[in-house]
Amino acid sequence: MNPNSKGTALITGASSGIGAVYADRLAKRGYDLILVARSEDRLKALSARLAEETGRSAEVVVADLNERADLARIEQVLRSDASITVLVNNAGIGMSGDLAGADPDRLESMIQLNVLAPSRLALAAIPGFVARGRGTLINISSVLALAPERFNGSYSGTKAYLLNLSLRLQQEVATKGVRVQVVLPGATRTPIWEKAGTDIASLPPSIVMDVDEMVDAALVGLDRGETVTIPSLPDIADWEAYEAARQNMIPKLSLSTPAVRYRATAASAMRAHG
Ligand SMILES: NC(=O)c1ccc[n+]([C@@H]2O[C@H](COP(=O)([O-])OP(=O)(O)OC[C@H]3O[C@@H](n4cnc5c(N)ncnc54)[C@H](OP(=O)(O)O)[C@@H]3O)[C@@H](O)[C@H]2O)c1
Repeated sequence: MNPNSKGTALITGASSGIGAVYADRLAKRGYDLILVARSEDRLKALSARLAEETGRSAEVVVADLNERADLARIEQVLRSDASITVLVNNAGIGMSGDLAGADPDRLESMIQLNVLAPSRLALAAIPGFVARGRGTLINISSVLALAPERFNGSYSGTKAYLLNLSLRLQQEVATKGVRVQVVLPGATRTPIWEKAGTDIASLPPSIVMDVDEMVDAALVGLDRGETVTIPSLPDIADWEAYEAARQNMIPKLSLSTPAVRYRATAASAMRAHG
């Protein structure tokens, strides 16, 4: 590949919402595209518009990432196409309501799509990125990774998984010319809410961001070299303080003896057992 070429960005969930805006912005930044989702008509319409407006090629690959064979097909594209320099792991679904009353099949699909698919796609892309000394992985997580009390705990769990995976992966590949960015959007105006059974109009408008603004902010974070980008967070010092507190705890989280407060005494044993 011409080293001056930006290469190709493969975007999952490009047929709507955040993924479609990434497609638009990355084409305008000079990337060719591979657009992945299930809705062929929507992908084709986007591909035609972007080819017309930007002159970039935008290949449509219809795939249901919950289907093992389709997922394997996209993994193969990532392994075999050396022009791919960016993977945007964006496809995802949400789940509203309390966890205790949730549909277990929907839960399984969500975990497959939000956890299994981006993990396998990352593992398919990263070795080629490392071998070529070039590549960017963008994982779309959510601020709910940091706020499990705010929504269905299983959805936020899938997003916390992506945050963890990204933090560790970035550490592994940082010296090899490869970037990992994890984006934590807050509530963003896309169709995901309606699909998950929540009317976005029921949310206070002050906590909902327009999708174009969210993606543009995330790309500024990418340009600034951030590993973690939280487009809404007004003061980065808040994230830094949270990270510093976490880093401070890490050396103390696994020790050979229990903390003093957990050491049983004769008095506490008496209290527990009468
Ligand atoms: N909107 C928010 O408030 C918000 C906040 C934080 C994080 N996020 C995350 O942002 C990402 C994008 O969500 P969005 O808000 O843009 O929602 P969206 O508009 O509903 O887009 C979701 C995309 O994922 C695709 N998709 C869904 N199921 C799929 C499957 N089985 N196989 C392949 N593609 C599939 C959809 O395309 P098809 O239906 O055509 O397959 C669509 O292109 C998600 O990971 C979401 O968790 C969203």
